[in-house]
Amino acid sequence: MESKISFDQRCGSRPLYHLPVMREEVVGHWMTDRGGIYVDATLGGGGHAEALLGHLTEQGRLIGIDRDEEALAAAADRLRRFGDRVILKQGTFSEMGTMLKALKIEEVSGVLFDLGVSSHQIDRAGRGFSYRQDGPLDMRMGQTERTRTAADVVNSYSEQALFDLFRRYGEERWSRRIARRICTLRNRSPFERTSQLREAIVSVIPGRAPQKTLARIFQALRIEVNDEIGELERGLEAAIFLLKTGGHLAVLSYHSLEGRTVKAIFRKHIRGCHCPPGLPVCVCGGRRILKAVCREKPSAEDVARNERARSARLRVVEKTMSNE
Ligand SMILES: C[S@@+](CC[C@H](N)C(=O)[O-])C[C@H]1O[C@@H](n2cnc3c(N)ncnc32)[C@H](O)[C@@H]1O
Repeated sequence: MESKISFDQRCGSRPLYHLPVMREEVVGHWMTDRGGIYVDATLGGGGHAEALLGHLTEQGRLIGIDRDEEALAAAADRLRRFGDRVILKQGTFSEMGTMLKALKIEEVSGVLFDLGVSSHQIDRAGRGFSYRQDGPLDMRMGQTERTRTAADVVNSYSEQALFDLFRRYGEERWSRRIARRICTLRNRSPFERTSQLREAIVSVIPGRAPQKTLARIFQALRIEVNDEIGELERGLEAAIFLLKTGGHLAVLSYHSLEGRTVKAIFRKHIRGCHCPPGLPVCVCGGRRILKAVCREKPSAEDVARNERARSARLRVVEKTMSNE
């Protein structure tokens, strides 16, 4: 059965789409110039965007990007009062460079990535992200994208490919057994529903607390379906290129795979040269174009207010040099 948006947290008379994590800290670091142009690469329900716009002057503008049309509709409603200071675009954050070029914007004062999925996406059974509710095995963040669904992955990948995927993106110790079970069951009837996958996973893991394993396998499939790590790498590079000198890039990550990817890309641009040690002169041409600003965890109050904040890490870097 299709679930409704959760009504337990309201925003005025509207149900809340998503409660923004570390809102004040994010805005404090994202904003470097009150009249600047900003990108929210993961717009969601527009919570962070709304908080930022509230601090900008009349010259300040925001470009909001999301691959999910439901997010864009919710954010358009929430940000309507800011009029033409807000431009919303559907697409992936790796397409950010092309989108901004089409808008004739060459550089920006700040970019935000708030990674993963929104509460709305998880709460809607019809999107297939949650192992807690029955729904189609979909998991595409953009429902009009002509990409594979979770059902396509589960029904077509080889046992070895499923094992690799569960190990790499889920870091799950029962990956081998789960991959084997899926391949046996799908020969009888293909997987179409999240409940089928849930049953297959639960049937092969010992013990009575399968929640963590379920969460890891569903996370692994979600990452694969949406190419989340590839998107993150390309999106961060695009954002770093677009930042003006002094501009900030802020990233909220929620699990170690995301965190490692962000750290690796930041480190590469903070160190500059990546030649092997011992070379008399640099041959890679790498330049130090970023400096670290902060790495913060949510406060206890943030976690008490918002369960989703528990695993959040905020990393912020500053561009110190132009692209030339
Ligand atoms: C955690 S939510 C953002 C919530 C938002 N900060 C707010 O305050 O409501 C992440 C959003 O990013 C979007 N998203 C994730 N990966 C994306 C990508 N590669 N390109 C564009 N949007 C993406 C998801 O569809 C989701 O709406």
